[in-house]
Amino acid sequence: MLSNFRSVRSYSTNITPDQETGIGRWSDAQFVRALHRGIGRNGEDLYPAFPYTAYALLLTDDVLAIRAYLSTLQPVTSPNADNTLVFPFNQRYVLRAWKLLFMPTRQWEPSAAHDAAWNRGSYLAEALAHCGDCHTPRNLMFATKSSRKYAGAVVDGWKAYNITSDSETGIGAWSDAEIEQYLSSGHAPAHGSAGGGMGEAIDLSLRHLSSEDIAALTRYLSTIPAQRSELAAHIDHHPATLKGATA
Ligand code: HEC
Repeated sequence: MLSNFRSVRSYSTNITPDQETGIGRWSDAQFVRALHRGIGRNGEDLYPAFPYTAYALLLTDDVLAIRAYLSTLQPVTSPNADNTLVFPFNQRYVLRAWKLLFMPTRQWEPSAAHDAAWNRGSYLAEALAHCGDCHTPRNLMFATKSSRKYAGAVVDGWKAYNITSDSETGIGAWSDAEIEQYLSSGHAPAHGSAGGGMGEAIDLSLRHLSSEDIAALTRYLSTIPAQRSELAAHIDHHPATLKGATA
């Protein structure tokens, strides 16, 4: 049984402005449609390893800002490899039905019940940094289980730990400063170094966030309802050992 579509071989595509092999000829509308609805330039449904269930939440202005940035990158000629979709995702109607069931139907909206920092953290975690894509367990249909938000899952053979505020199986015992240090640098005293997908997330993206954004993320995380998890909590016996390629 296929338990996690991220472990299926899928190739990410060339998003440089190259005219032939990149997205140089895409219109802005096609780019927005890809991120918001998981649809490729020629109308094809894209495989959900591209985290469009999170990107669907992005505000359109932010998608256009990403597009504007990408279009200033150096074009690279590099043809895309063919994705071999595995059953049942190779059946077009399955992807369509899956999207109808699991795609958010609206963009992210601020909550009036919370302050600006919480809302910023919520937008970063849910839409841009898609923490739940790895940290929320999936159901048999490969969709994240909202009732188990951030309770931990296994991704590409790595444990993406419980990041709710449960003090035994989650990160409830971490101080805010420890969480902030971990998210911005991939290291926190007594918690070791981030490896696997987390190492990449920090190295390629989170370490570029401002300290206000890191604090906002941490604040938002602290308000996620605590969940106990079946995954053993992370106890690092060799905190000095580097586990993966991170900064
Ligand atoms: C691509 C998958 C992926 C994404 C996206 C991701 N994480 Fe992780 N995360 C992991 C993995 C895997 C680990 C375990 C790393 C290790 O063992 O070194 C981890 C570890 C962590 C830890 C340490 C937990 C512990 O008990 O040691 C925290 C905190 C964390 N992630 C928070 C976040 C937040 C917040 C986000 C979003 C901003 C996020 N992660 C996005 C995969 C991911």
